[in-house]
Amino acid sequence: MNKIIYLDAAASALKPKSVIKTEGDFLRKSYANAGRGVCARAVAVDDMVSRVRGRVAEFINANPAQIVFSSGATDGLNRIVNILTSQPSYSESSNFTVSDLDHHSARLPWEALLHYGKIRKMQILKLDENFDIKIDSVPKTDFLIITAMSNVLGRPQDVEQIISAARRKNPNVITIVDASQYVVHKQIDVKKWDCDFMVFSGHKIGADTGVGVLYIRDSEKYLPDKFGGGMVMKVSGSELVLNSAPEKWEAGTLPLTQIAGLGAAIDYLEQKRPNLYLIKYAYDELSKMPRVKILTGRDAAILSFVVDGMHPLDVGAMLGAHNICVRVGNMCAAWIHNAMGISGSVRVSIGAWNTIQDIKDFIKVMKKIVK
Ligand SMILES: Cc1ncc(COP(=O)(O)O)c(C=O)c1O
Repeated sequence: MNKIIYLDAAASALKPKSVIKTEGDFLRKSYANAGRGVCARAVAVDDMVSRVRGRVAEFINANPAQIVFSSGATDGLNRIVNILTSQPSYSESSNFTVSDLDHHSARLPWEALLHYGKIRKMQILKLDENFDIKIDSVPKTDFLIITAMSNVLGRPQDVEQIISAARRKNPNVITIVDASQYVVHKQIDVKKWDCDFMVFSGHKIGADTGVGVLYIRDSEKYLPDKFGGGMVMKVSGSELVLNSAPEKWEAGTLPLTQIAGLGAAIDYLEQKRPNLYLIKYAYDELSKMPRVKILTGRDAAILSFVVDGMHPLDVGAMLGAHNICVRVGNMCAAWIHNAMGISGSVRVSIGAWNTIQDIKDFIKVMKKIVK
C-alpha cells in the first residue's frame, strides 16, 4: 500500500479542489486588501468578504453583523474570555461551568482565569453513562461553555436543551458553544440553540488554516477586545467612535485568501458531508478484535479506541508505517480521557474523500497489529 490513507479529518480536513481553486484564483487574479481601498479591485475584495460573511450567516442561521472572522476556534474561544472579562459589568465573583467533553481550547482559558484569581468558581457539568451532558443537572451559572461534539467521542450534544436548562436557572447566563467538530457533521442553528457565542475553525471543514468563525449574538452590546485599523469610524483627541459590528470586531487585515476559501468550503460541505457508514463499518470490524476496546458509539461521528497491552502511540506509529494517518494521545482533551480512566486513545475520523476501501485497508493493517 503506497497511497496515504488519511483518517485524521477531525484534526484537520483535506481541501476540496474548489477551495484550492478559489484561493489560487484569488491570489493570482483578485488579491488586494479589504476595507481600505477605493479602486475596483479593492472594492471587489470587500464584496467577496461580505459575500462569504453572508454565506456563513446563512449556514448557521445568523445575521451577517453577528459573524466575526477569527483565526480559528482557539482564537475565538480565547477572545470570548477576553471580551467578557473586560466588560465594565464583569465581576470577579462570577462562576463558570465547563464539562469533561471540552477541548483544551474551550476550557483552559477559563481555568486560567481561576488560576490567576480572576474568577471565583468553576463548576463541571455532569455526564451520564454514555458521557453525554446530563441536562437535568445543569447548575445555576454565570458563564456556560458547551462542547457541541467531543473530538474524542463524536456524539452531538443537545445544545438547545442544555442552554434552555441553564436559562431556567439563570436568565442572564452567557452561553458559549464550541462547534468545532459538530459543524462537520450537523447543521448549526444558533437561533434555535439560543447561544450567546459560538465558534468553529475553517480548516476542519475543508477551508484553509488561519480562518475561523466567531458568532456573537449581541454583537453591538460588548466593547471590543482588539483595537486597530478598520474598526474605528472617528478618532480625534478624546473622541473614539467605533464602527458598527461586524467591523468593530475585526481590527487589522483579515485572512482574505482563507476567507475566500471558507465560502467554497461551506458550499462543498453542504453538498458532501463525510459518510458515517464508514465509521459504522470500522466499528463493526474492530468489534471483532478481542484486544480492541472501542470507546465510542456505533452511531458516533468519530471512532476512538485503545488496544489492550499497547500504548496508543505505538498503534499510531504502526498504522503510520503502513501510510495510515490517525490521531493518537489525549487529543487536547485530557478531561474525558481521565473520566474514562485512560491517558490517551487512537482516533479514526473521516472526511468526504474517504472510501470504504480506506477503511478495509485500515482494518487489514489493524488485524496485523493486534494479532
Ligand atoms: C472540539 C474542538 N474544539 C476546539 C478545537 C481547536 O481548534 P483549532 O486548533 O483549529 O483552534 C478543536 C481542534 O481539534 C476541537 O476538536
